[in-house]
Amino acid sequence: MNNFKEQINLENLPSHVAIIMDGNGRWAKKQGKLRLFGHNNGVSSVRAVTEASAELGLKYLTLYAFSTENWNRPQDEVNGLMKLLIQTIEAETPTLNKNNVRLLSIGDSSRMPEDVNKRLQACIKTTENNTGLTLILALSYSSRWEITKATQDIANDIAQGIIKKEEITEELISNYMCTKNIPDPELLIRTSGEYRISNFLLWQIAYSELYFTDVLWPDFQKEDLYKAIVNYQSRERRFGKTSEQINK
Ligand code: FPP
Repeated sequence: MNNFKEQINLENLPSHVAIIMDGNGRWAKKQGKLRLFGHNNGVSSVRAVTEASAELGLKYLTLYAFSTENWNRPQDEVNGLMKLLIQTIEAETPTLNKNNVRLLSIGDSSRMPEDVNKRLQACIKTTENNTGLTLILALSYSSRWEITKATQDIANDIAQGIIKKEEITEELISNYMCTKNIPDPELLIRTSGEYRISNFLLWQIAYSELYFTDVLWPDFQKEDLYKAIVNYQSRERRFGKTSEQINK
């Protein structure tokens, strides 16, 4: 792989990149190892991609680390992933601070184990004043859960007279999502050769550019992110308009 970084136009960076990290299990299986071995190695890709995003000057990076549906995996794997999350957040907090990275999370925290929530909240608090990259971990997250919750919250606020039903706009709905105040991702990446969205940021990716790569997540390194950004920059984003309207 070669020098995609040099081809990046720093004037036209996406402000928000979202990634569906996939393929840890297959990566491990190819080597005759347990799935958790793949997740453990996936952490180094998380580190590489976070570092590369901060260095480039991206403002937001969202990583799909654990979906609502992932609760249905074998208990051993779920427990291993939770342990890995605690260890990683604890080990990486000083590095996040050093690199001016702010941590946030989105998802149903009520389903997360208490020790994970505690560690996560501690890291969010410690990094809250950092002004560089915002790293958003989607944990126990799914879009349908988020949209259902937003709908319930809107209905409750109407019932209590906090808002009127005539005030419902796209903007208001966005403000009831977990991603309130976060711009929609311009670029969504999925690794491991799967062409699915898997219940991730359905509201927010209405106009995102989608990028799929066969690279398995533990093999995904800085150059792979640069390559995705170069590819993104080669596209014409029309938002429903014609090419002529965009280029006039
Ligand atoms: C998908 O691979 C990956 C996950 C469900 C978990 C992602 C977790 C990490 C990369 C490690 C921890 C993350 C952080 C943020 C510290 P898969 O298991 O679905 O792979 P497969 O499709 O090959 O089975």
